[in-house]
Amino acid sequence: MPNVCMVGTGYVGLVSGACLADFGNRVICVDIDSERIESIKNGEMPIYEPGLKELVGRNVEAGRLSFTTDLQDAIRKSGVIFSAVGTPMGEDGSADLSAIFQAAKDIALYMDEYKVFVQKSTVPVGTSEEVGNIIRKNLANNISFDSVSNPEFLREGSAIEDFMRPDRVVIGVNSERAREVMREIYRPLYLLETPIVFTSVRTAELIKYASNSFLAVKISFINEIADLCEKLGTDVKDVARAMGFDKRIGPKFLHAGIGYGGSCLPKDVSAILHTAKELGVSLKIINGASDVNDSRVDRLIDKMHSEISELSGKRIALLGLSFKPNTDDLRHAPSLKFIDRLLEEGVRVRVYDPIAMDNTRKIYGSRIEYFNDPYLAMEGAEVLVIMTEWNEFRVLEFEKVKKLLKGNLILDCRSIYDKEKMEAWGFRHYSFGG
Ligand SMILES: NC(=O)c1ccc[n+]([C@@H]2O[C@H](COP(=O)([O-])OP(=O)(O)OC[C@H]3O[C@@H](n4cnc5c(N)ncnc54)[C@H](O)[C@@H]3O)[C@@H](O)[C@H]2O)c1
Repeated sequence: MPNVCMVGTGYVGLVSGACLADFGNRVICVDIDSERIESIKNGEMPIYEPGLKELVGRNVEAGRLSFTTDLQDAIRKSGVIFSAVGTPMGEDGSADLSAIFQAAKDIALYMDEYKVFVQKSTVPVGTSEEVGNIIRKNLANNISFDSVSNPEFLREGSAIEDFMRPDRVVIGVNSERAREVMREIYRPLYLLETPIVFTSVRTAELIKYASNSFLAVKISFINEIADLCEKLGTDVKDVARAMGFDKRIGPKFLHAGIGYGGSCLPKDVSAILHTAKELGVSLKIINGASDVNDSRVDRLIDKMHSEISELSGKRIALLGLSFKPNTDDLRHAPSLKFIDRLLEEGVRVRVYDPIAMDNTRKIYGSRIEYFNDPYLAMEGAEVLVIMTEWNEFRVLEFEKVKKLLKGNLILDCRSIYDKEKMEAWGFRHYSFGG
């Protein structure tokens, strides 16, 4: 079995590298960020992901997993090179591929014999061809290689389980030799009878965008139904629950709320829309999903205004900052847009999150107030906003909450509490479509 080199040790690279090692592969993870590599070597994970520290430790111990900044050495020792560097949203909404192209150049310089180059990052259709050309141009030796697209579908917060037991693995490949290598790497998943979908490279690239766009559409769909529910006086939770029992629809991604955020959906939706626009194709449904999502925070602010006329100078307690529970990731988190809007209005923002406080501090510094306990954040606050459904927010002690809050408005952006019960406590409770 060839050794694997994983370039990039972010949420995807680090998890994929550790999981591939757990499958029995020998994996060398490389990053240009030496601090990151140093901390991983010291057993400190640079990201919060449940179970990751133990998984990395176990595989390092077993001699299957190692970390380095020495790309040359890692590539020389490996037959398969995965690239898992970031593809953030560019200023014009397209995927910023600068890290992808730079990594490809760096990798090409050290390729000294046949290698399989696997693009794990989410990249627009045609990028693998472009990357292949870059590699060809920068090769120091006249060797052959194959390009594979193997997009990743893991979710932060349950990344290890998602990688170990995926719904499917997508492998875009144009050569039989590379197909065999990929089969070998994912062998344990074959044994679990995981669907492994082989396609062309371009198709694999599109599958990732189509999948994420579909999830975005599903979320925005139920959010629109929630808006309608508010006017009709019906409860979107019941609507979604009953819809979800229909196997053709399914219950997942059918929760009304503050909308999608995170490092993937917003940027991937934006990138596919950008691609389509360039090609003169109108993706009306995806466009609509994006518009609906963009308006969720505005709706929340409007709701606050309808309940409290003047927000300036008021304290607002915000529980949950990460875009979803069990991650410290703040990329495109709705909380950020919400905080920005509150600051514009002169609100005194008091925040608490179990894991994402350090990352939040890096963005807002002293412009907002941080608390190590949800109840401390609530002291004297006019409004309590539950932004992320961390488990600990599901069991708040309302006796205490009542005493601490100055006002009685609760904006429950994830619908984790029952309106009637909240009203019985004497709160005004708002949830989207509830
Ligand atoms: N985060 C997710 O949940 C998720 C899920 C599925 C797919 N993806 C996709 O996977 C890709 C990676 O996402 P991420 O969230 O892991 O990104 P990330 O920003 O967390 O990590 C990227 C890492 O790559 C490193 N890097 C950048 N250039 C490098 C180079 N030339 N050589 C070596 N290392 C380099 C960075 O230092 C960083 O550690 C993106 O395309 C993303 O869309 C992400």
